[in-house]
Amino acid sequence: MGAWIEGEMLHLGAEAEVTSGTWHGRPAVMKKRRPRGWRHPDLDSHLTKKRMTNEIKLTILLARKGAPVPAIWDVDIDEAKIIMEKIEGKPLIEILRSNEHDEELLIKVGRSIRELHRNAVNHGDLSTNNILISDNREAFLIDLGLATREYDLEGFGIDLHVLHEILRASHPDVKGAMDLVLKGYSQLDEELGKPEAAPGGFPPDAEDVIKRLGQIMKRVRYHGG
Ligand SMILES: Nc1ncnc2c1ncn2[C@@H]1O[C@H](COP(=O)(O)OP(=O)(O)OP(=O)(O)O)[C@@H](O)[C@H]1O
Ligand SMILES: [Mg+2]
Repeated sequence: MGAWIEGEMLHLGAEAEVTSGTWHGRPAVMKKRRPRGWRHPDLDSHLTKKRMTNEIKLTILLARKGAPVPAIWDVDIDEAKIIMEKIEGKPLIEILRSNEHDEELLIKVGRSIRELHRNAVNHGDLSTNNILISDNREAFLIDLGLATREYDLEGFGIDLHVLHEILRASHPDVKGAMDLVLKGYSQLDEELGKPEAAPGGFPPDAEDVIKRLGQIMKRVRYHGG
């Protein structure tokens, strides 16, 4: 990773440390998974590598399909490091808090999520921290450590449900946000038609995923989970 020149620390979380810098002169970030003290070291490094290889594999797959994820430029599995394209911008959580969003942006968020789902990838941790809004107002999805390849409605419905709950709990003043996200989510299928087959089958239609979201919401209301 010799071409990396380190800049400032962007994020210090429980799982990962993210630093900005340059790679071959281009704006980049380095994401390094942190060892977590409370687990057995062997198990810890096993899980760390598993989540990291998962993140790398699915991010590369999506980038190749033209989906809105950062390009991965270099990896070091033993050191648990990834160097990727830096998305200049801010997480959606900050955009919503500072009221810099508009309808068009929330529609774009829905379209970006649908791009993942059309490629049979379930994000697995769809929070407003993991959606980056670039300075030119594109919505990128990051942090695919818990992502899976999926063909069942349920996983996709849960992705939408997680985001919906976060929008309700953390941004209650942003009215109608989820409706706009869902508008973008179904818009893409209207434009592109049915999703193409992926290796495990056909990803479900947007309309069916949105129906499943409705069922999940009812289930949660009546049974609390
Ligand atoms: N490619 C990128 N370009 C710009 N900023 C990024 C990029 N990747 C990550 N970041 C910044 O770093 C933050 C954390 O990254 P990420 O979500 O991948 O880590 P994490 O797995 O959630 O870490 P933890 O679980 O420890 O909080 C993001 O919310 C974002 O602000
Ligand atoms: Mg994250």
